Amino acid sequence: MKLSRVLFPVLLASWLNVACSSTTGTPATYEPVRGQAGKDVIWIPTPEGLIEKMLTTAKVSDQDKLFDLGAGDGIIAITAARKYGAQSVGIEFNPDMAQFARRKVAEAGMTDKVKIITGDIFQEDFSSATVVTLYLMPHLNMKLRPILLKMKPGTRVVSNSFSMEDWEPDEIMSHQSTQAYFWVVPAQIEGPWVMNGLEGGPFRVIMSQSFQNIGGTLTRGGQTLPMMGAKLRGDEVKFQFTTSDRKVHAFSGRLEGGRFKGTVVSDFRHTPVEITRP
Ligand SMILES: C[S@@+](CC[C@H](N)C(=O)[O-])C[C@H]1O[C@@H](n2cnc3c(N)ncnc32)[C@H](O)[C@@H]1O
Repeated sequence: MKLSRVLFPVLLASWLNVACSSTTGTPATYEPVRGQAGKDVIWIPTPEGLIEKMLTTAKVSDQDKLFDLGAGDGIIAITAARKYGAQSVGIEFNPDMAQFARRKVAEAGMTDKVKIITGDIFQEDFSSATVVTLYLMPHLNMKLRPILLKMKPGTRVVSNSFSMEDWEPDEIMSHQSTQAYFWVVPAQIEGPWVMNGLEGGPFRVIMSQSFQNIGGTLTRGGQTLPMMGAKLRGDEVKFQFTTSDRKVHAFSGRLEGGRFKGTVVSDFRHTPVEITRP
């Protein structure tokens, strides 16, 4: 047998091993390579300048628990803890990468604040997050979108580079030529409600909703009034309406335990009101 016939499969296998492997070196000396394969997306770290913008836009503080989905070398989780005081968790599928991120956490002296989980972002539970950061791909953002939209209203989500189609961002930030997108998870408030507390009897309220964009009407005694300037941010709602006596009423309140508790201001008078499901 020719020597080349014996050597070729051996060489091919070893080349494929290098090409497919995301590992260079033993776990203790492992160094990731930009662009290396990952389960659903390759590894490229978010640049520091953009991380700053993402975390300041999300107003990350020591009150937060941040999850970075697809944590890479842990840079976002570490920065959130070190500079902003958050508890943070990075979820990374590649075990070598996760171990590398743990080494970075230890080097930063952040082991009490940062945890790196070896796992799949589509399997792990991140429902305790108050802030979620992403640097994935458009179709992965869309796969996560229904999960994100079921999170506690007010949870902040920031994504490097990729948006979420018709869930418009609340803010867009940019660093050099890269954009990042910021959302606040909106409460689900669509449908019928009843507002009690205001003089003249209950108002029937119908809310329409598309993500954080809301509108609606208020009906009392056969008269239907349009909702003006309606805004929803997390679980906080504001809107105005004008009654037939031309008085402008401004409601602001928060959804707590399935009901809105708030105030209507009319002619400088503050009236406490409640809006409940019928
Ligand atoms: C573009 S990098 C972003 C790293 C980091 N979040 C940052 O912004 O610097 C994406 C990371 O997600 C990891 N990844 C890919 N698919 C994953 C999955 N299903 N579950 C967890 N991690 C995943 C990759 O290994 C890679 O490290």
